[in-house]
Amino acid sequence: MAVIPWPLNPSSLPAAAPVADDAAGMAAALIHSRQTILPKRLGSPGPAGAELLQILQAAAHAPDHGQLVPWRFILVPEASRKALADVFAQALRERDPAATPQQAEQAREKAYRSPVLLLAVVDAERGDADIDLAERTVSAGCAVQNMLLMATAQGYGSALTSGKALKADSLRALFQLAPSEQALCFISIGTVQSRKAARARPAASTYVSTLGPHGDVAPGF
Ligand SMILES: Cc1cc2nc3c(=O)[nH]c(=O)nc-3n(C[C@H](O)[C@H](O)[C@H](O)COP(=O)(O)O)c2cc1C
Repeated sequence: MAVIPWPLNPSSLPAAAPVADDAAGMAAALIHSRQTILPKRLGSPGPAGAELLQILQAAAHAPDHGQLVPWRFILVPEASRKALADVFAQALRERDPAATPQQAEQAREKAYRSPVLLLAVVDAERGDADIDLAERTVSAGCAVQNMLLMATAQGYGSALTSGKALKADSLRALFQLAPSEQALCFISIGTVQSRKAARARPAASTYVSTLGPHGDVAPGF
């Protein structure tokens, strides 16, 4: 057992303990195991109760300049899926009046996939106007990733989906979005029924460069 000197001298104290033994290894394993599982491959059960709360609470740990909480999430429970299905069909008709009944049915069907469905929303104006939409959207992305990683840690599959309906007036009206708000994407979470092979990831050297002391920017690090 380590002997702690007394009185305490801060410089003799050990460095802060890691979050957990091999926290970096655990984080890497979690991050690397997340992959998109499309909503059609997500079945019941989905997270509920304490598990769902843990996923939702993970968003609050996102970096948030000015602590504006410029994002929010709207759950779409089973009882509300028909309203969303109607909006998906209406949004399709609005952008393509020639859409067939079969195409409308395909659009409707998407509202019923995945046991847990949330809409992610960002607010461009709330709070400090100096914090622009790009910063707010980065914060929203971090919040979303925290949620996806928590869902992955709990053993669930997850996906983000977007699509033209996100901008439709009918969808904005259904979710009662303020004029300053944008619908970013849907988040689906559920039990993995099937999955594709994990995709190859780009090497960091392909997307990282280094600023040199004389203003040159060289690929790599
Ligand atoms: C904001 C956002 C919206 C997305 N929307 C869709 C979508 O509409 N349909 C889809 O198949 N994938 C969508 N994706 C998921 C990406 O296609 C997916 O992340 C990508 O294929 C990489 O797969 P991975 O998540 O397994 O790394 C979206 C991703 C993001 C970040």
